Amino acid sequence: MTELVVRRLLIDLETPFARHWCGGDAFRTALFNALSMSFPVGEQFFIDSVRNGFKALPPEQQERFKREVQGFVGQEATHRRIHALFNGHLEQQGLVNAWAPRALKRLKLMEGKDPRHWLAITAANEHFTAIFAEWMLRNHDRLDGSEARLKTMWLWHSAEESEHKSTAFDLYQALGGSHAWRITWFRRITLIFLGDTLRQTVENLRRDGTLWKWSTWKSAGEYLFGKRGLIRQSYGPWKDYLRRDFHPSQQESDLSRQWLQDNAREYTPVGA
Ligand SMILES: [Fe+2]
Ligand SMILES: [Fe+2]
Repeated sequence: MTELVVRRLLIDLETPFARHWCGGDAFRTALFNALSMSFPVGEQFFIDSVRNGFKALPPEQQERFKREVQGFVGQEATHRRIHALFNGHLEQQGLVNAWAPRALKRLKLMEGKDPRHWLAITAANEHFTAIFAEWMLRNHDRLDGSEARLKTMWLWHSAEESEHKSTAFDLYQALGGSHAWRITWFRRITLIFLGDTLRQTVENLRRDGTLWKWSTWKSAGEYLFGKRGLIRQSYGPWKDYLRRDFHPSQQESDLSRQWLQDNAREYTPVGA
């Protein structure tokens, strides 16, 4: 079992930040803003999935998961709070979150469904998050030019995502979730997640007035498909999930441990 520490981040999120906070780059800012907009709703669903999955376990198995589930819930609840503050500033800047209401509507369809479906959806999303997190930590210099407090926020979230990437997956396996359903949900989530990310990023750029600027598209091409591009570097790890013997722990998390160690002054452990 993974020991998951809940950390309170010691950064100021009261002070407003620049419209193009991500190194002055409109595209990167719009992309990160889109992801942030999805977190409060998404992470609440992950918390509920993991809680309900835990409750569905036989008591002798619950003991094994108890601490990890508490840590997972604590970490995701903290992420939600921090990103809600961040999103408050985006609203002030005139951006509109269309992702959250759309996701809420879709998630309503899951009410009353087997907890294994919830967990398969959560595990699929967590795989995406973990890939993104690893990529962020590996390419942290790409956040240079952003305010230190915002860089810290994104890298702290990344480090914790990498840390708890196995929780939903392990619960799914413990409840006897099948390989076929795991893959079915992963394929669906891939389409939904990429579609939503694209829509919200475009919407953010449109409101920002930078959608049709050449510099925006140039940045997008390089950031996604360049040598260190997000899509270029993430395709391999994405595909790994389809393997029958895949487990999230097979993917790298040294960078997460390293960041948490090097940046201990940025947070205090809660209830430790
Ligand atoms: Fe999170
Ligand atoms: Fe997560």
